[in-house]
Amino acid sequence: MKDLIPIKKSHIRFYNDFPLYYISKNGDPLLYKKKDKTLDREMLDRNQYPRFFIKKEDEAKVVRQLQEVLNIKLAKVISSQGVEAIRAAMCDIVEEALSGPIDASLSALPETIEILLMGARKNSGLLESLATIHTVGKKLVGHCVNVLSITAQYCFFKNYPDDQVKELCLCALLHDVGLGKIDRKLFESAEKLSDKEFSEYKTHPTQGYKEVMKYPMFSKTVEKTVLEHHERLDGSGYPNKMTDICFEAQVIGLIDSYEQLKYHEKKFRKALKPFEALQIIKADVVKAKYNKKVFVDLCSCLIQ
Ligand SMILES: [Fe+2]
Ligand SMILES: [Fe+2]
Repeated sequence: MKDLIPIKKSHIRFYNDFPLYYISKNGDPLLYKKKDKTLDREMLDRNQYPRFFIKKEDEAKVVRQLQEVLNIKLAKVISSQGVEAIRAAMCDIVEEALSGPIDASLSALPETIEILLMGARKNSGLLESLATIHTVGKKLVGHCVNVLSITAQYCFFKNYPDDQVKELCLCALLHDVGLGKIDRKLFESAEKLSDKEFSEYKTHPTQGYKEVMKYPMFSKTVEKTVLEHHERLDGSGYPNKMTDICFEAQVIGLIDSYEQLKYHEKKFRKALKPFEALQIIKADVVKAKYNKKVFVDLCSCLIQ
């Protein structure tokens, strides 16, 4: 049992190339199908299979394959379906990235960005609509997709070259990857966090930084942005109270704060209208916490 891990029912159809196990009535793990045996489509549709498990050693390979399949699905829905389906496909990808074994689950994300940006170039309203659909019950996943969509809008507004757009979008998609390593409730809770909870929450930039460093495919800029997105220019941020923050982290940090104010209602604070959210951030711009030029550009981009 120790070396088996459960798989999601909704993902069973992606596991044809892997041996699957189930737990017998006696509680023993037994082989259900070998690597190359195909599952029955009708039984899949009727949800008639037992709960399946895979071997821990197959997990990284499974996740990589699953991410590839999810990217193919995203490419398909982008070319043929509405924005709700595109958002759902994006959310699936982000959910996998946050919940999979971290050593494998991030490697398909650069391709995800390419697919999304290609779609956004063909359909200029896509990013704006993507960021306004509410994701029920998956706050963190919705947050990452929103930050990504607003960041891409900002990049297009600024007319950045393709490579810079891709890099900033990857920064946006990955900025909170460390939250996958701590109790997700700390982000999703509508209550104010206790001091102890907030200390744990504040470890997510460092945890995320350690994770993205494992992937040679991510640039130093992406690593730094994950680490620095909660730092503020006046030194009041965390985890290191630094003032010399990389530009990308300044952009993502600002968009991240805007997204949280605009979309996430807390018990002690209502979700805000764009103008109200920007007003609150403006007060922090005046205190020199954020980059003023980035703030002005973001305002122009959001109200154009
Ligand atoms: Fe964060
Ligand atoms: Fe965030």
